[in-house]
Amino acid sequence: MRAFAILSALAALSSAVAAPPVPSKASAYGDLTNGERLARGLPLKAPARRTKAARDSAASPVPSYTAKGHLLVRNASDNSVIGYASKDVSITTFITPNLDDALTVSVTLPVGATGGSQLNLAQADSPNAFTSFGLVQGRDDTTTDISAGSSNYLYISSTNDTPAGSSPQQPGNAPSNLNGSALSSESAVWTIDIVSGTAFPIWINSDGVAATTQLFTQSNALFASGDLDAVYAKFSLLPVTPITLTWVPAV
Ligand SMILES: *[C@@H]1O[C@H](CO)[C@@H](O)[C@H](O)[C@H]1NC(C)=O
Ligand SMILES: *[C@@H]1O[C@H](CO)[C@@H](O)[C@H](O)[C@H]1NC(C)=O
Repeated sequence: MRAFAILSALAALSSAVAAPPVPSKASAYGDLTNGERLARGLPLKAPARRTKAARDSAASPVPSYTAKGHLLVRNASDNSVIGYASKDVSITTFITPNLDDALTVSVTLPVGATGGSQLNLAQADSPNAFTSFGLVQGRDDTTTDISAGSSNYLYISSTNDTPAGSSPQQPGNAPSNLNGSALSSESAVWTIDIVSGTAFPIWINSDGVAATTQLFTQSNALFASGDLDAVYAKFSLLPVTPITLTWVPAV
C-alpha cells in the first residue's frame, strides 16, 4: 500500500513535469507567422531559440546495427558438433543437423561493438508468435531459481521480451502455452560476440543475482541448469550431455 502510494505520487509528479506548457494570452501575437506579422505591419520574430529540453529530446539514439546468426551446438566433452538450435521450438528447442532447419536469430549492437551481454536474440524467422529466444522455467521446477544442489532446469525456448537484468518474469512464452501453466522466463540473457562466436545465456535468479548456468542436451533437446548431476539424479532415464553454443553468421 505504502509502495503503491509512493509510486502514484511519483507518477503524478512525472506527469506534472511532462505536461505540455499551456500558452498564455500574452503569447497570442507570438503565435503569428512572419507572413501574418508582415500582413499586420508587426515587427518580424527573431529566430526561435530551442530550449535545452527540446534539444535533448530531439537527440538521435545511439546508432546500432543488427546481425543475424544461428546457434551451433557442440558436445562439451569432445567439442564435436551436434548440430544447430532448430526452428522446432516447442516446449523446448530441438537440435537439427540441417542448416536449412536452423533457427535464425538476430542481435542488435551499437555501431562499433561486436558483442555484449544481457542481449536479446530476436527470432528472425519466427517459428511462433514469441519475439525472442531465451530461457524459460522448467515445468517440474519447485521455484524460479537454479543453483548447485537443485534439480530445477530451464528450457532454451521462445519467450516475449523481459528487460535486461530482470529477475524471472511472466511475459508469455512457448512452454507456458504448451503446458497450460504460468512459467517464468527471461529474454535478455545472452552474452554474444559475433566475431569470436561466443554465445551463452545467464539466468538471473529471483533475488536478482546471476546464476551459474550450465547448458545440456537430453534426447536431442536443449536445456540449462545450475547442477547437471542433480538433474540427472532426478530425471535419470536418459543421459545428460553438457554442451556449448557458438554464434555462426547467417548467410
Ligand atoms: C558427447 O561426447 C561424449 C564423449 O565423446 C560421448 O560419450 C557422448 O555420447 C556425446 N554425446 C552426444 C549427445 O553427442
Ligand atoms: C505440465 O507439466 C506437468 C509437470 O511435469 C505435467 O504433469 C503435465 O502433464 C503438463 N501438462 C501438459 C498439458 O503438458
